[in-house]
Amino acid sequence: MTASLRRGPIGAGVGLRLPHMVEVATTLPPALWLEIHPENFLPNPHATELLLEARRHYPVSVHTVGVSIGSAGGIDRAHLRRVRALIDSLDPFLVSGHLAWSTHASEYLNDLLPLPYDEETLRLLATHIDEVQEGLGRPYLVENPSSYVGLGASTMTEGEFLTELVQRTGCRFLCDVSNVHLSGHNLGFDPYRYIDGLPAGAIGELHLGGFTAEEDEGEPGSEILIDTHAAPVAEPVWDLYAHAVRRFGPTPTLIEWDNDMPAFATLLGEARRADSVAADALAAKVRHALAG
Ligand SMILES: [Fe+2]
Repeated sequence: MTASLRRGPIGAGVGLRLPHMVEVATTLPPALWLEIHPENFLPNPHATELLLEARRHYPVSVHTVGVSIGSAGGIDRAHLRRVRALIDSLDPFLVSGHLAWSTHASEYLNDLLPLPYDEETLRLLATHIDEVQEGLGRPYLVENPSSYVGLGASTMTEGEFLTELVQRTGCRFLCDVSNVHLSGHNLGFDPYRYIDGLPAGAIGELHLGGFTAEEDEGEPGSEILIDTHAAPVAEPVWDLYAHAVRRFGPTPTLIEWDNDMPAFATLLGEARRADSVAADALAAKVRHALAG
């Protein structure tokens, strides 16, 4: 499937999670757009009702965490149909999910587990992405994971793998800038070179989320960064985000915060900072171009 992405709001939105549902549905805070996980709402008809009410006031994107495109056991079609039904009633401007697998033998696992980047995984994922895009009736954005160990079986880099996946399926790419920083730290690659190697024309969305530093038990004295989504965006990630915006241009950007939830106003503050960092980055790029 090669279909164009719907044009969504250019600027930062925030993740809408259940603790903020009532506040958002009843006070309509000034968010540019909202991103939801369908798996939070499918088992909860009351929350879904509030979500549909909120949808009348905000553009929405849908980020699946249970459509397991890397699972060797195949896509759970019953789950895909349930997601499709919710999507059809929400009419989101983007639908995305992770480059990972989270089910095994019909059981959902809490973690998004990594895949080796090789030809066999590429064929498996291309087949599954075709099936997901068919099943959902729209293009699907695939997100780079947060990584803690490199897999010895990989024969290509993550960027090469994603570029090939985009070419084979017509899917698009969701670049989680925090995951690029975190994985670069944990695996020892340069996050700026990673961003420079991505197919800029295929980028449909950016993510920014907080992480937590913990002592690396395997290497005492050094830190490993854990993708907790439980903290503000870190300073080096704001710098990398500015670089990503200079390279990809204005792009819908999500503030992700899923644990130790702060007040909704804190999320809006992070979104305002993202808009300001993006505006400064684009202005600097234009000034640089005009200066020749
Ligand atoms: Fe993300």
